[in-house]
Amino acid sequence: MDATEYARANQDRFLSELIAFLSIPSISTQPEHKPDIERAAAWLRDKLLAAGFVKADVMPTTGHPVVYAEWLAAGPDAPTLLIYGHYDVQPPDPLDEWATPPFEPTVVGDDLFARGASDDKGQAYVHVKAIESLKETASTPPVNIKCIFEGEEEIGSPSLEPFIQEHADLLAADVAVISDSHILDQNTPAIVYALRGLTYIEVEVTGPDHDLHSGAYGGAVLNPINALCRMIARLQDKDGHITIPGFYDRVRVLDAKERAEMAKAPFDCEAWLEEAGVKADWGEEEYTIVERTTARPTLDVNGIWGGYTEPGSKTVLPSQACAKISMRLVPDQDPARVKQLICDYLAEIAPPQISVEVRDLHSGDGAIVRRDSPAMQVAFRAYAEAFGKEPIFVREGGSIPVVATFQNVLGIETILMGFGLPDDRLHSPNEKFHLPNFYKGIETVIRFMELLPRIGE
Ligand code: BES
Ligand code: MN
Ligand code: MN
Repeated sequence: MDATEYARANQDRFLSELIAFLSIPSISTQPEHKPDIERAAAWLRDKLLAAGFVKADVMPTTGHPVVYAEWLAAGPDAPTLLIYGHYDVQPPDPLDEWATPPFEPTVVGDDLFARGASDDKGQAYVHVKAIESLKETASTPPVNIKCIFEGEEEIGSPSLEPFIQEHADLLAADVAVISDSHILDQNTPAIVYALRGLTYIEVEVTGPDHDLHSGAYGGAVLNPINALCRMIARLQDKDGHITIPGFYDRVRVLDAKERAEMAKAPFDCEAWLEEAGVKADWGEEEYTIVERTTARPTLDVNGIWGGYTEPGSKTVLPSQACAKISMRLVPDQDPARVKQLICDYLAEIAPPQISVEVRDLHSGDGAIVRRDSPAMQVAFRAYAEAFGKEPIFVREGGSIPVVATFQNVLGIETILMGFGLPDDRLHSPNEKFHLPNFYKGIETVIRFMELLPRIGE
């Protein structure tokens, strides 16, 4: 029996293990779920040991732990592959919009519904099962394998870069692979070659030092919510161009060749509108929807609050207003510099009657990876063989900050070998993973690992 046959014969067991993994509510942003984070890390370590790793540890960081495992039996002449994934998940709310409970994984037809099904437990587990399949059918692995699974990706990986710096020798590898993105549709595989970066702040505006009667004071006291809204309105024009001075200074221009390539990838506008649940698209008219969502920077208010928000009315002129604001960035924008630019601009446009405090939430660099590397060619072939169709190279609008960290700290390129689908509803109610992609993903990764020793031939 070869590794692929083994994987096919064990699909049902692989699925029931994934269901157990998804049942652990490892929500990284909520302190009350810390025990679940630890439980998920220990569960994963045990499964890595069971899959054949000689060494697998839960390693402490300054935040949630990293699970590290290695199987270096291929010898010093074989390449070393570094696999990354994240075992933490986003909060499931709004809970009442889930058709089935988020941490009671449920199979409906060919889909498995649960928080983390696609992002990223299901996709991370693809690698564990690919390795088990190789282990059970070949005495030595075709490549040396190192795995790093983190528990803080969904909160901006605050402890990961220092961890990677500290353990650079342990993590040394020839190439990295991450399955935490999606293909175009069930039959059209895709390899992501660019990710956006991110910078995220929280703004607090204070007006009067206590809440006031809006009849007694309204008209002569500046309302901090009104002021904050006016400030936010000045960050962007109505067509989506960001109006913070200097914001576009370092944006790498999309050249005509890349735009032509991007236009060739299949894109169904009607289906996209339908999936997003919107009446019409919006944004920079001079760029296509695909360009706007993957290769152009953005600014979005992710949350805004202040004053009275309970049912009914209260005539209050509040003391404070707050907003969470994030910006997606493209190469070569520097998240720290962009953060400075927005802080300076907010200070400049703030009316004198209020004070503004900006808190730093997190940042991550975007990345572009080489498409002509030998490992990329191997990934291309692995997809073509497992899916029966050549993959398309695409940019992605989301962020996986570790890709830039691998480039900058370890000096290695990453292959973004995703198996999700565009309608997996990541971070939303009713997240799912398409099970045929789980199984085909395992076969693709097996093929990738089998072909990798031949890089350079
Ligand atoms: N897996 C996603 C990133 C992603 C989304 C890749 C869609 C491909 C398609 C990842 O877990 C994620 O959500 N990242 C955050 C990063 C942030 C918290 C720094 C994001 O993009 O918001
Ligand atoms: Mn993810
Ligand atoms: Mn995510």
